[in-house]
Amino acid sequence: MSRTVHQRAFPLKNVVSIDQFSPALLEAVFATVDDMQTNLRRPAQLPRLADCVVALIFFEPSSRTILSFQAAASRLGAGIIVHQTAEGSSLSKGESLEDTMRIVGGYADVVVLRHKEFGAADRAATACPVPLINGGDGGNEHPTQALVDLYTLRQEISTLSGLRIGMGFDPQHSRSIRSLCRALAQYPDNELILVGPEELSASAEFIQDLELRGARVRQSTDVDSLRKCDVVYLNRFQVERFDSDSVARRFRDQYRISADFVRDSDIRVILDPLPRIHEIEGAVDSLSQAAYFRQAAYGVPVRMALISLLVS
Ligand code: NCD
Repeated sequence: MSRTVHQRAFPLKNVVSIDQFSPALLEAVFATVDDMQTNLRRPAQLPRLADCVVALIFFEPSSRTILSFQAAASRLGAGIIVHQTAEGSSLSKGESLEDTMRIVGGYADVVVLRHKEFGAADRAATACPVPLINGGDGGNEHPTQALVDLYTLRQEISTLSGLRIGMGFDPQHSRSIRSLCRALAQYPDNELILVGPEELSASAEFIQDLELRGARVRQSTDVDSLRKCDVVYLNRFQVERFDSDSVARRFRDQYRISADFVRDSDIRVILDPLPRIHEIEGAVDSLSQAAYFRQAAYGVPVRMALISLLVS
């Protein structure tokens, strides 16, 4: 583990926002991810966290995030406790998120929280006595997904700068798009094109923040603006965060890419945090640019790295 941040203390206590990661820290984390990836099936080469308990507290639906955290913790030999859905928890009896975190923090050494409220992770981290990882807080952020996305890009095209990146199709509500935009805006010479129906466009405040970080940003309602992008990052309409799903019904056929579209484009990589619903036609899966299943697999070594860094 010579190149990794194991040598120095990991500077973060919690992982709440992707903004906590500078490009230098990201590189150090990715070196640890490389080690985890190389040794994924060689337990003797991995850190052993046998005396560590990871709590997975998921108050919103999840498949990839919760399962990859579970896989990550078990590959490191850690114990896992899981609590899913707010209905089955004391939150439904009126317990505050802060109290829940105080309790869970007494049972575990790391807590991963998914919650429907924008900003919940920050509140939870303040109350939690042990490291907290944001597994998605409403339409705000999904920092561990952004780490997976950046790591995938690094593996696929070896650079995170000088790129034209198209992001669709719900820039307003997709926490995955929001966290990845913030991260990519830190790297030199990136252009971000946010694509989706007018009703789902990102706020002026969000765009301005990305511009202040140094990115060139534009919004477009035209799927065709993805054609000249190096990287295309798609995420379904986040219907659970709309007042009505009529926008989704009206636009789902329009906001989709086909294999023919990709063949007739400059696109080098296509990512999607998944689940894939309407946004990518099945025939795209067999194209070399389709990296979303490889991306999902990187969820395990990325989360192994995070857990081990936070408890070391
Ligand atoms: C994303 C999420 O939950 O925000 N899923 C994930 O974690 N891989 C994207 C989504 O649900 O659309």
